Amino acid sequence: MAPFISIKNISKKYGNFSAVDNVSFNLQKGELFSLLGPSGCGKTTLLRILAGFEVSNTGSFEIDGHDMDNVDPADRPVNIMFQHYALFPHMSVFNNISYGLRRTSLPKSEIKSRVEELLELVRLSGMSERKPKTLSGGQKQRVALARALARRPKLLLLDEPLAALDKKLRSDTQFEICKIQEQLGTTFIVVTHDQEEAMTLSTRIGVMNEGKLIQLGTPKEIYEQPQTSFVADFVGEISFLEAVVKENKNTHWLMQAAVPIYVSSDSNFNVGQKVKLALRPEKISLTSRPTGNINEFKVDILDFAFYGAGTQYRVIGPEGVKLKLYQSHNQPSKANSPMLKTGFVNFSPEAIIVLES
Ligand SMILES: Nc1ncnc2c1ncn2[C@@H]1O[C@H](COP(=O)(O)OP(=O)(O)OP(=O)(O)O)[C@@H](O)[C@H]1O
Ligand SMILES: [Mg+2]
Repeated sequence: MAPFISIKNISKKYGNFSAVDNVSFNLQKGELFSLLGPSGCGKTTLLRILAGFEVSNTGSFEIDGHDMDNVDPADRPVNIMFQHYALFPHMSVFNNISYGLRRTSLPKSEIKSRVEELLELVRLSGMSERKPKTLSGGQKQRVALARALARRPKLLLLDEPLAALDKKLRSDTQFEICKIQEQLGTTFIVVTHDQEEAMTLSTRIGVMNEGKLIQLGTPKEIYEQPQTSFVADFVGEISFLEAVVKENKNTHWLMQAAVPIYVSSDSNFNVGQKVKLALRPEKISLTSRPTGNINEFKVDILDFAFYGAGTQYRVIGPEGVKLKLYQSHNQPSKANSPMLKTGFVNFSPEAIIVLES
């Protein structure tokens, strides 16, 4: 199937500086794609290029088989919603949402019914005559979303749409955006530097760094199979162990870190090769006594933090190796006692991600 959105080799330089560096990806219709990356990595610049507010130096952008190169921003079937979405303060909710529609040839009655539909969609029915200053942060945010959706764009670009909201409201709004997106089947690109937001929202995630798209995959792929240390470290908590490949043992590799570690991997390594072993916190078990499991060693518990559903520990093992681990409170474990000063960690060979050193 031909991709609905096709982005090919897009680059943007400011002087000698590459803000966007040869970015390519395709999206299918109805995807909710998140662009994730640290501040300054080029996310907003890429969106501005797609919206037509910025001209790229190289590359092409097609929607539904149509090249957008010579299409004016106003004529693109694209809408963009910025982090600091500005509602018109003197206009009612109705007039804010219908602003773009009133510039088309749509009859008034049609505009009215479209706005009512949108208000229902964002759960603000009955608020059409209110002024923005009488709305809560989350409500304003939903008016902005309705306004962005009013002209039924084929592609909606959201640049950190939730950044201004507090944590609880953010997560509620995330689910709401997801529901609305599913209902409409509009293709969304959501820019965020909040990796949790990306995990919950997206069908797929693109991780950017220094203008480049480093990895693209489903949230699960990005979390469980990061291809570089940068991605592993940026998305979620992780601990790294420096190691050297010792020996191939049929289905496993024996690697020497501070302690010998067995790794299950289909990759081919050279004996003597340096690698980085990465472990997600929830893949490491902490017990008060040795279990006899593979990949087990003694640790000192440095500190812990209680998170309601679980406790996060920082521990230190042989040769000063530091690990972050997370014990869910529904795992029956004596190690969940905060009094514990030392313990034993173990992790399965399958849980280890092997990265280039
Ligand atoms: N008009 C411009 N002239 C020169 N440099 C620019 C211009 N616009 C952006 N840049 C630079 O390009 C880089 C990417 O900027 P961009 O706004 O795309 O980052 P971002 O990923 O959106 O970051 P943030 O998460 O902080 O919003 C930055 O280093 C920025 O300073
Ligand atoms: Mg930005």
